[in-house]
Amino acid sequence: MHIRDRIEEQLPEWRERVARLKKDHGNFKIADVTVDQIYGGIRGVPIQVSDISYVDPTEGIRLRGYTIPELIDILPRRRNTEFPIAGGLFYLLMANALPSDEEAYQVEEEWRQYSKVPDYVYDVIRAYPMDTHPMAMFSGAVLALQSTSKFAREYSEGILKADYWKHYLEDSIQLTAKVPHIAAFIYNRKYRDGKMIDSEPDYDWSANFANMIGKGENPEYRDLCRLFFVIHSDHEGGNVSAHASHLVASALSDIYYASSSGLNGLAGPLHGLANQECLRWLLGVLNYFEGVPDPDDLREYLRNELDSGKVIPGYGHAVLRTTDPRFTVQMEFGERHLPEDTVFQLVQRVYGVLPDILKKTGKVKNPWPNVDAINGALQHHYGVKQFDFYTVLFGISRILGFTAHAVWSRALGKPIERPKSLTTGMLEAMTAEHTAPAL
Ligand SMILES: CC(C)(COP(=O)(O)OP(=O)(O)OC[C@H]1O[C@@H](n2cnc3c(N)ncnc32)[C@H](O)[C@@H]1OP(=O)(O)O)[C@@H](O)C(=O)NCCC(=O)NCCS
Repeated sequence: MHIRDRIEEQLPEWRERVARLKKDHGNFKIADVTVDQIYGGIRGVPIQVSDISYVDPTEGIRLRGYTIPELIDILPRRRNTEFPIAGGLFYLLMANALPSDEEAYQVEEEWRQYSKVPDYVYDVIRAYPMDTHPMAMFSGAVLALQSTSKFAREYSEGILKADYWKHYLEDSIQLTAKVPHIAAFIYNRKYRDGKMIDSEPDYDWSANFANMIGKGENPEYRDLCRLFFVIHSDHEGGNVSAHASHLVASALSDIYYASSSGLNGLAGPLHGLANQECLRWLLGVLNYFEGVPDPDDLREYLRNELDSGKVIPGYGHAVLRTTDPRFTVQMEFGERHLPEDTVFQLVQRVYGVLPDILKKTGKVKNPWPNVDAINGALQHHYGVKQFDFYTVLFGISRILGFTAHAVWSRALGKPIERPKSLTTGMLEAMTAEHTAPAL
């Protein structure tokens, strides 16, 4: 069944559930908000509903209810490959149903059909100075596609609110179809002297990206792309990029505006850009020791880094309180395919000693690695050594999540977001008088 029909089939029940919750429990109190939370980036305050994914602090991400190992096991894949095709994951996120092989390939087929990127978009990328960060090029190219938005066109002509989601879905399929091509164009322009490679019709979405950046001949790298694009697709709704794209779409800005905004958030060093920092740090350690240090030397080095106030990239997380399962699955990939790689060996060694050291600081809430602790090491092994491109890889995948959130937000008629801000003076007065705000 097509994603559209699958959503249509479920919508009455979803709308009924939401309406019932609002009607019967609209005044039910979920949380109080403290002054610390207001000043602290509204950390941990429940402010939205997302059924696409949920990050459990002790278990990690579940996408539509499935853990990462479960997804790898059950989503459709090509014969003789280790990891699922992205079309199946997109189907699951969007349609809230496990796809059959046929349904997953139907997405891949639609993607193939809509994959042609208009030439003017490539001109937009060419117009950026060469030293522009690839994330700015990526976001700019996605925004340049805005004029193709079916939703924006239909909205200006007048459509039913209940049908908004259908146009968002159409735009989402059209945008995601083009994303690997745009990213590959940026990669080739920046790092391969502009040498472009045509897409390969027999390849799936993920493998085709590998192919278009000149790495299609290595089946391991094609599989790494499949793995990477599945595990980075979503991390619930509150992280900066997902929230930015959700917020922008709540104004009924179309999927191109919303996804470009999400990418802009992902480009920040406290979010998606962290993975390039992590590889830089690993290479610095290897350089310092002229190889992989033994555990005692590494412990001493790490303690010194922490004592001098440095943060070790790739460790810690705002929500997770365990080893990120996205780290674990990539570790297993590394153990199978690149056990001799020195950067990978260092990742293993750091994992062996750093959590205990971080625990002993007494202040780091999560001493375990996040996904960034390994992402770059695997890419580096297969020759993708341009650190600043790593966030683009992340973005290719994350757009799958942005679009699923946006389609369901429109389908469930979510309103424009408008939280309230207060002044410092108001907070001072309230806390002095112990009065709750009259908002
Ligand atoms: C991810 C991160 C931003 C989460 O921040 P957070 O929720 O504020 O983390 P915590 O509540 O555990 O922070 C408490 C203290 O531990 C420190 N801490 C957290 N992770 C640390 C790390 N990897 N190395 C050293 N110190 C760390 C914090 O800097 C903070 O110190 P402070 O009280 O002196 O300011 C943080 O762990 C970090 O900077 N990690 C390294 C960068 C990284 O991997 N980013 C990618 C995230 S997906």
